[in-house]
Amino acid sequence: MIRFIEDPEEKRKISRGILESLTEWFEVEESREQYIRESADQPFWAYIGDDGYDGFLCLKQTGKETMELSVMGVRKECHRKGVGRSLFAAAKDYASMHGYEFIQVKTVRTGMYEDYDITNAFYRSLGFRELEVLPDYWDESNPCQIYIMSLKSAINTIATRHSYRGRFTSEAVPEEDLITIAKAGIDAPSGCNKQTTDVVIVNDPEVLGRIKEVLDPPVASTAPAMIVVLTRMIYAYRDRCFAVQDYSAAIENMLLAIVELGYQSCWYEGHITDEDRICDKIASVLNVPDEYDVVCILPVGKAAEGFHAPSKRPLSERVRFNSWS
Ligand SMILES: Cc1cc2nc3c(=O)[nH]c(=O)nc-3n(C[C@H](O)[C@H](O)[C@H](O)COP(=O)(O)O)c2cc1C
Repeated sequence: MIRFIEDPEEKRKISRGILESLTEWFEVEESREQYIRESADQPFWAYIGDDGYDGFLCLKQTGKETMELSVMGVRKECHRKGVGRSLFAAAKDYASMHGYEFIQVKTVRTGMYEDYDITNAFYRSLGFRELEVLPDYWDESNPCQIYIMSLKSAINTIATRHSYRGRFTSEAVPEEDLITIAKAGIDAPSGCNKQTTDVVIVNDPEVLGRIKEVLDPPVASTAPAMIVVLTRMIYAYRDRCFAVQDYSAAIENMLLAIVELGYQSCWYEGHITDEDRICDKIASVLNVPDEYDVVCILPVGKAAEGFHAPSKRPLSERVRFNSWS
């Protein structure tokens, strides 16, 4: 289990316990003590196993858009059991959610020591890419390899998107960001290019307030902006209408754009299209023409609370090569 640790004393205790057991990597007492000291002020995740703390990871900000994986330690007996991977996934989610674009990590270059070769292979397997080697950053027998990871790649954004149903900060969403999000929606593919999806961006507090009034039970009540998704029936050919697929593709594109820009959202469709037809009330607030249906609302704003990824069935249960069996 991963836990975000906030108490500085507990952080120092955990990092000391683990780093002192990893002398192959943290042999020099002075730098080990520095890692322990600095860990107390950094975002800090611990992995709790059956017998106590199996590992920890800290991040530190090194630039406006960049976080560094400043130190990570996993007990040797817990290597290759997914502890480091889980810690990194939590840290990556945190960095993405806080709008950072890059994570960097420094280690001793491959080809110097066997233990560090394992570390290099681990970072590469997480998706880090080589940025640069600085031969004199530490000393000439420990050339510093800097790895970098972009948090804004499509694949990373997909992995870090989760439905957010918490409170939003009051920070307004700039109009250009709302337009970028809407454009991502209308850039989506559509069956026979019939472009059956339209959107209404709502950022006027008065209009937003009238929509929130009809959301019963209330959702997104603190969202500073909202994208309302509209669809209309246009036949692609014969009796085939792909409007549902079209708006689903548009919604997913917009959710990804929202996350990439540092905001959070949730696909609210079930809530507004049930028997009480909240969607029709929203359509009336927005003067939507009769040929369109309101099918979904996407709140947009900065998260004021933390959140977790829901559990999903593992890849091995859901993905197969070449045949079902
Ligand atoms: C078609 C559709 C309708 C949804 N409607 C709602 C909704 O009305 N309310 C809600 O809280 N979440 C809604 N969701 C979000 C799902 O509950 C959510 O995607 C799912 O639990 C998986 O979590 P994740 O988005 O964090 O991966 C909807 C999602 C889809 C695809």
